[in-house]
Amino acid sequence: MIEAWAPGRVNLIGDHTDYTGGLVLPMAIDLGTAVRGERGGDVVQLTSVDQAGAAVVGLEVDDPSAASPPWARYVAGVVAEMQPVAGFVGEVTSTLPLGGGLSSSASLEVAVALALGAPGDDPLALAQLCQRAEQRSSGVPCGIMDQLASAAGVEGHALLIDCATLAIEPVPIPHDVEVVVIHSGQQRELAGSAYAERRASCEAAEATVGPLRQIHDIGALDAIDDEEIRRRARHVVTENVRVRAAADALRAGDLSELGRLMVASHASLRDDFEVSTPVLDALVARLISTPGVFGARLTGAGFGGCVVAVTSPASLPDGWHVSAAGGAAVTGR
Ligand code: GLA
Repeated sequence: MIEAWAPGRVNLIGDHTDYTGGLVLPMAIDLGTAVRGERGGDVVQLTSVDQAGAAVVGLEVDDPSAASPPWARYVAGVVAEMQPVAGFVGEVTSTLPLGGGLSSSASLEVAVALALGAPGDDPLALAQLCQRAEQRSSGVPCGIMDQLASAAGVEGHALLIDCATLAIEPVPIPHDVEVVVIHSGQQRELAGSAYAERRASCEAAEATVGPLRQIHDIGALDAIDDEEIRRRARHVVTENVRVRAAADALRAGDLSELGRLMVASHASLRDDFEVSTPVLDALVARLISTPGVFGARLTGAGFGGCVVAVTSPASLPDGWHVSAAGGAAVTGR
């Protein structure tokens, strides 16, 4: 019996920065996806405890995005990228809210890849394989953050990832802090097309001013004529600065400063990058006016999904109280 487990992730700060080689500060969480079963045969056949239908994927997949039911696309994407020599028959269980911004799809991809025999000792290669799988399955030109956080998580730590060099620096999370994830109740319907549009805007900005990750002074963005593209770029440049400052604040145990940076990040995602929604804004406003909450912001792609809050212990009764988990792993043979 093979048992593969891959965590979801919550991003503390640094959204819409990964695909321009910027900085992110996610952590793998103690909610995730398990895949259990046996290798063999010539199809990958998975049932799901949480979702309807079975994924039945032949080893030679042409177009993973055509697989059904919808969750089978991610399984097909991994099979298409890995081209395993043998199939697999088993079951998927998830403790993550599906499609909610905690990387349920990345966690499924990483768990399936490990179950099918991808080497677990190279988290970066595993994450890159699964990033390609996600892009092929969903058609969304996602960055590396979700798959890398799932593959390379470190218990008790957030991960400061430089998405240009792909260097990972674990940053300890103080013991007297809680990370709480709250679902807005809003599904992320338009996330795919709007995500691609935002990424294209960043590329347009870079065509004028060069790599955004190398810009530290927003004055340099004045060379961009288009007002909307300039705002998109300003989010990325200021967010990179906030991520580094947030990692320093976390290390120093300065939770008020971390919270301030999270709130500034939300404002930038709302006003400059325009990926928030009134529902997310109202939730963040409610949370940051709650005693004991240091900061809160939307987490992940936006357009609905989840908000993350950093709080003193027992300040928020609602939501998932997550802790920083180790990365994906597989047992058995
Ligand atoms: C999605 C993508 C990530 C990242 C975030 C936004 O989760 O999969 O690569 O771009 O959005 O930070």
